[in-house]
Amino acid sequence: METFRIIQNGDDYLLPVYNRQKVVLMRGEGNHVYDSERMDYLDFFSGIAVNGLGQAYPDVVNAIIEETKKLGHVSNYYYNEPNVKLAKLLCEISFAQKVFFCNSGAEAVEAAIKLARKCFRRQGQEKFEIISFHRSFHGRTYGALSATGQVKYQEGLGPLLPGFNFATFNNIESVKKLITDKTAAILIETIQCEGGIHPADPKFLAELRDLTKEKGIFLILDEVQTGMGRTGKMWAYEHYGIEPDMMTSAKALGGGLPMGALLVTNQAAQGFKPGDHASTFGGNPIVSAASIAMIEAIIMKNFIAQAAKEGEYLKMGLMDIQTANPKLFTEVRGKGLLLGLEMTRKAASLVSLCAKQGLLIGSANENVLRFTPPLITTHADIDKALELLRKAIAEELKTV
Ligand SMILES: Cc1ncc(COP(=O)(O)O)c(C=O)c1O
Repeated sequence: METFRIIQNGDDYLLPVYNRQKVVLMRGEGNHVYDSERMDYLDFFSGIAVNGLGQAYPDVVNAIIEETKKLGHVSNYYYNEPNVKLAKLLCEISFAQKVFFCNSGAEAVEAAIKLARKCFRRQGQEKFEIISFHRSFHGRTYGALSATGQVKYQEGLGPLLPGFNFATFNNIESVKKLITDKTAAILIETIQCEGGIHPADPKFLAELRDLTKEKGIFLILDEVQTGMGRTGKMWAYEHYGIEPDMMTSAKALGGGLPMGALLVTNQAAQGFKPGDHASTFGGNPIVSAASIAMIEAIIMKNFIAQAAKEGEYLKMGLMDIQTANPKLFTEVRGKGLLLGLEMTRKAASLVSLCAKQGLLIGSANENVLRFTPPLITTHADIDKALELLRKAIAEELKTV
């Protein structure tokens, strides 16, 4: 189909919940994607931090093909080998001792909320309140949305779930004020992503860990976007020297296929018994095989160290751009290959101009450019991306 017809059919038949660029992506390889007009884009967005190793990473592609030939979908009323292997692997590379698999970040957050509540109910304790944070984002399902600290995602959708209270990110006193004898858990993004790429302060996260231990409540980290090596550690919490009781993962977890997971300690795991929670597709053998292939490649090929190193290089380049354009940019934030460049105006126009130059990036909280290139990104890719960004900025400045 010709490009304009695909776009027209898309607008005719897809529910209009996205502001899409007028681009039809057809093919991808590594950190390049190509559209229906054969334009080559350097991908510094990775499908919103999903394609950790870029497009069509050979080990992941092979794992998917081989597993598809062997076993397709099976229900969770049976064991499947790739899924058990993946659960073990995730526990080996994290604080966790048990894993629940689902299909998305929001579902992982749902599972965490349910598990926290169920744990206390099992002990006969009426603790159900969850404290989360202003500016946070935890997903679009009702539980995750109720935990999200941004009104714009909730408008017109009420009533939301009761039992959620919002503290101020990086402010421990605001958290203490919200703790009651009904509090079950504190849910926090290690780095607030959709809210504009705001890392937690190390002192604040340590205080949260102490507070949750002292009160006997759960610390749930939402690492849906920050996990799988993106920040220069396998999990962002490793930068902070603390460990949570529960952690959500998704996005890059499935090697490009849809997968979410809730990782928990043995103690937290006691809340769920057979029948308490479930997912038809969660832990599907094909997605599990893709995930294992990706995690093994990340470890074997030192992509985490690469993300840390290249992330520093990209950060320096973005800081140079900020310094050169003080009227347009105010701050660079983030860790590893999860970086935000805050603007003095809305980011949408510059994101589009970057796409026109052949650079895919995203935005966060409307006024922040978001850079989430795959972990395979090199110095040369970053030099190219910065060159394209500079060209886009020159165009943006013409619109002042
Ligand atoms: C921190 C965080 N949690 C949860 C979600 C929801 O994930 P999903 O879109 O896979 O449901 C997102 C998505 O952006 C996220 O960034």
